[in-house]
Amino acid sequence: MGIEPTLSAWEAEVLPLNYTRNRLKYSLRQMDKPTVADAHLRKVRSYVHRPGRATSGQRRALTDLWPRFGVDEKVGPIDLPALFGREAPRVLDIGFGDGEALVTTAINYPAIDYLGVEVHEPGVGHLLLLLERSGATNVRVIRRDAAEVLPQLLPNASFAAVNLFFPDPWPKSRHHKRRLVQPPFIAEVARVLADDGLLHIATDWADYARHTLEVLASAAEFAPIDSSADALAFRPPTKFERRGRRLGHEVVDLFYRRGSGSPVRMSHQNNAMPGSATNVVNT
Ligand SMILES: C[S@@+](CC[C@H](N)C(=O)[O-])C[C@H]1O[C@@H](n2cnc3c(N)ncnc32)[C@H](O)[C@@H]1O
Repeated sequence: MGIEPTLSAWEAEVLPLNYTRNRLKYSLRQMDKPTVADAHLRKVRSYVHRPGRATSGQRRALTDLWPRFGVDEKVGPIDLPALFGREAPRVLDIGFGDGEALVTTAINYPAIDYLGVEVHEPGVGHLLLLLERSGATNVRVIRRDAAEVLPQLLPNASFAAVNLFFPDPWPKSRHHKRRLVQPPFIAEVARVLADDGLLHIATDWADYARHTLEVLASAAEFAPIDSSADALAFRPPTKFERRGRRLGHEVVDLFYRRGSGSPVRMSHQNNAMPGSATNVVNT
């Protein structure tokens, strides 16, 4: 019983651990083919609801800290200066996971405001605890599907940068449609980015990097840049990056400026990270 060795490490991480290989295949097929009854409500999602409940501390944070950092608006566009209480450059972090990299970045750059979007409840709870512990005031969080948040809530040209760090790779061909990087989603990213805004995508999956290059090559709004040394491109190591490196994966960071051109690829050299950065993970 349990996960067979042929199961990819990513699947083993995100899918319930008590599935056999066959039940897992069945489960994924079910997710791709909704029943007639719920077909009108369901769509292709870029995530699965991962196993693992929020801890009691995370549950407390989701209740007590949410009013301070959480965004409840169901219709937009959100008034972002009002949300952060000031006018400052803003970064959108899509799928921040446990939030450690996001909070680390936010405490290193207090003059920048960060909006995190994540569907995984324990991850959101963990982020809230880190915000409380670190005293960071420049982060707000939306617990909802980014594929809905961008078109429904976020105003035009409202972010200086959009980060997509280690998106779920969906390695099998039949699941590629579940990848977040798709032309309609990238068009939404272009819409919310200001002129000259930065799109920063990191992945440890070679095929996802190839896929991203292809999708962005067709996105007329974006021009590739080799890297960016400014604060907006800062990226501390993330949890999923560390896991990818343990598995021997090469990590690739792709940078695009809102403009036009064709993409280039670069290996991550940590060149966007100031050496003096504070890391919230160990604080
Ligand atoms: C592989 S994890 C990477 C997490 C984090 N960026 C890191 O590097 O450690 C991908 C994350 O994206 C989130 N995610 C996937 N699709 C999403 C969506 N449509 N909206 C919001 N979050 C999403 C998942 O819940 C998951 O936490």
